[in-house]
Amino acid sequence: MGLRHHHHLLIITGANRGFGKSIARSYIAHSNVAAISFVLVGRNHDALQGALDELTAQATDSGVALKSIIVGNVDLAKTDALDGNLGRISEAAAKLRSEAIQSDNAIQQSILINNAGSLGNLAKTAKEITWQDTRNYLDFNVVSFVGLCSSFLKDTLAAFPKELHPEHKTTIVNISSLLAVQAFSNWSLYAVGKAARNRFLGVIALEEKANNVKTLSYAPGPLDNEMQADVRRTLGDDEQLQIYDNMHKQGNLVNMDDSSKKLVLLLTKDEYESGSHIDFYDP
Ligand SMILES: NC(=O)c1ccc[n+]([C@@H]2O[C@H](COP(=O)([O-])OP(=O)(O)OC[C@H]3O[C@@H](n4cnc5c(N)ncnc54)[C@H](OP(=O)(O)O)[C@@H]3O)[C@@H](O)[C@H]2O)c1
Repeated sequence: MGLRHHHHLLIITGANRGFGKSIARSYIAHSNVAAISFVLVGRNHDALQGALDELTAQATDSGVALKSIIVGNVDLAKTDALDGNLGRISEAAAKLRSEAIQSDNAIQQSILINNAGSLGNLAKTAKEITWQDTRNYLDFNVVSFVGLCSSFLKDTLAAFPKELHPEHKTTIVNISSLLAVQAFSNWSLYAVGKAARNRFLGVIALEEKANNVKTLSYAPGPLDNEMQADVRRTLGDDEQLQIYDNMHKQGNLVNMDDSSKKLVLLLTKDEYESGSHIDFYDP
């Protein structure tokens, strides 16, 4: 691959654990870029620092030049704090961009990975969901997502105007789900949130095509992690519960690093159609 001298900037939400941390790990391991600047976003600063320590050791072993800034104390469910938090994320990215210029190590690609997300209450069917549940759920999973995407796009396109940086690529990823494209009982808010996120990125793909922007919704498969354990604990639909339980017992849940590797290879090969939805199980 031809990315060996490249420097990529990645903003990852929910980077402290689970799939977000796995994406960071796989980017270091499989993107084949020489330098990575991470903005790691989440609620818990210490947990993000723990993840960063592991990533730093991995990058050193792999010969990847890593710079990172942690933006902690970001609760994406709190829209009152959203403007301030978006400002802190912007500043962190701007600082990494200016360090890149000073060290003559230009950034060729800027990527926002919208990974943080929540399940909602899977015990409830649609008739039991209140509008208050809905508002809380959508504040985190859709409203903050839109804020992150638009703020990132504005900043990045201003920092890399295409007349001056025709080679620079901008990428927005939505960590999505099968629920974005197929309905299952008890998943109403989750399905609404993921479908909305998919479509928002579909629109950006059209609006910003001429600005070298691509978007991707990636469904990582049923992952062998804490969120899946929550699904098994809380899902109110017996038939599906059986399916998830069996997948767990038979060892058929997807390893997080296998799934994040697939995402990283999709991004680096760059052959996917912008605005599309791609599943881990797709060929
Ligand atoms: N697990 C699966 O099987 C599966 C399948 C399909 C899609 N996905 C999607 O994959 C993505 C990652 O999920 P995961 O499996 O890694 O889940 P997870 O283990 O529950 O991790 C969720 C991440 O989101 C963060 N987060 C939660 N609430 C937040 C808030 N209010 N503000 C900011 N960050 C918050 C968490 O940080 P804290 O440590 O602070 O809680 C954590 O880093 C999600 O979008 C999920 O919908 C997962």
